[in-house]
Amino acid sequence: MNLIPDELIKAETPFLIINEGKILENLEILRSRFSPETGFYYSVKTNYELPVLKTLATAGIGAEVSSGFELSLAREAGFPPEKTIFDGPAWKEEELEAAVRAKIRMFNLDSLTMAAKLDEVSTRLNSISPVTIRIQAETYPRVGFLPRFARKFGVPPRALRDLLAPLTRMKGLNLAGLSTHTGTALSYPGPLLKAIDTLAKLAGELRSRDFPVNFLNLGGGLPAPGVRALSSMDLLRIQLGFSPAPLPPGEPDLSDFCRVVAEKISRELNPRKLQVAFEPGRSLVSNAGLLVTRVISIKNNWIFLDGGVNLLPESPFFLKRRFFLAARPGEKTEKRFNLSGPSLNTADVIGLGIPLPRPEIGDLLVTENAGAYTISRANQFTRLRSPVYFQMKNGKIKTCRRAETLEDLLRIWPS
Ligand SMILES: Cc1ncc(COP(=O)(O)O)c(C=O)c1O
Repeated sequence: MNLIPDELIKAETPFLIINEGKILENLEILRSRFSPETGFYYSVKTNYELPVLKTLATAGIGAEVSSGFELSLAREAGFPPEKTIFDGPAWKEEELEAAVRAKIRMFNLDSLTMAAKLDEVSTRLNSISPVTIRIQAETYPRVGFLPRFARKFGVPPRALRDLLAPLTRMKGLNLAGLSTHTGTALSYPGPLLKAIDTLAKLAGELRSRDFPVNFLNLGGGLPAPGVRALSSMDLLRIQLGFSPAPLPPGEPDLSDFCRVVAEKISRELNPRKLQVAFEPGRSLVSNAGLLVTRVISIKNNWIFLDGGVNLLPESPFFLKRRFFLAARPGEKTEKRFNLSGPSLNTADVIGLGIPLPRPEIGDLLVTENAGAYTISRANQFTRLRSPVYFQMKNGKIKTCRRAETLEDLLRIWPS
């Protein structure tokens, strides 16, 4: 279990800590499971704190960016343009200009509209931009609203053929391959295996039509140890007034997951000389982060903390993760509690039915797996942004982001 470094025990709460060693350990798992030719492009939006980006750039992997801001940040952190992939459903012209001028590795195209815009920018800048087409690998369940929203990204496999003639006319683009993304925090490798089949089949079709594609980008979705998407059974339990089943220790296992996917890749993609890439986010940084909050009120089975969804905006109806009381890890749990932030937002709830020892006012409550989609999605609803600390490999702690102050805001509000 992650414990809080001594020097932060008395720090003002709430705050986040990111552990560099853990990020590098996760990267090592990915690198050891997949072949050395596999490309890894860290999904910058997952956590774009500068020391996190510098750690990963120094470790030699690439970056996947989804805006001009992220592109600039990635370059600042040291990711070379030739190891940078630009992603997203809608790009502004100035973002494309910056990426084309930098001569980045690849653009993941989401639509013909964006293809035309990139073609126009590339031609104007005398450049030929390498592109993949993002395919909906149809791995989402057919029910629920999130899967329906996810289909706004990419194009269905059957629509690929219709894009080929217009793409051939776009002289500023070079179709290098296909890309996809099967959703985050996958509980089992099935969706990714299915996506590999879909992409491999389409790549074969493209080659038979004289498009010499050789690049398959499988996106993110690799799981993070200690966090899991809620199952339909968990959701049903919540509907019926029960708590989701607790996450068994050691689950999900990133290494096992990667082994299964790697075997499929070496069986089905390597013999076809298809170069494989991933855009891992959560699997690299999620379990490297802790959110530390203080118990400020207790009412029945509700524990109120000094930080909530402003710092942990991932819904407890989507993901489950673990929590513990800093001073009493491993102590016998007394009952199940709901964990709320301090705001007047009804949805300010970060944990449902969490087994804990009975806390006392002032106790530190730690949320595990707070390294992904938390700091980069944190918001200012009713409070200022909290500090983030970075624990380096050698154990030293540095301030990664200082706490925001009222003066900071007064400076950016025109008087
Ligand atoms: C296109 C794309 N690539 C990569 C990622 C990173 O996914 P994950 O954090 O599950 O690894 C995402 C996340 O939403 C994404 O949309």
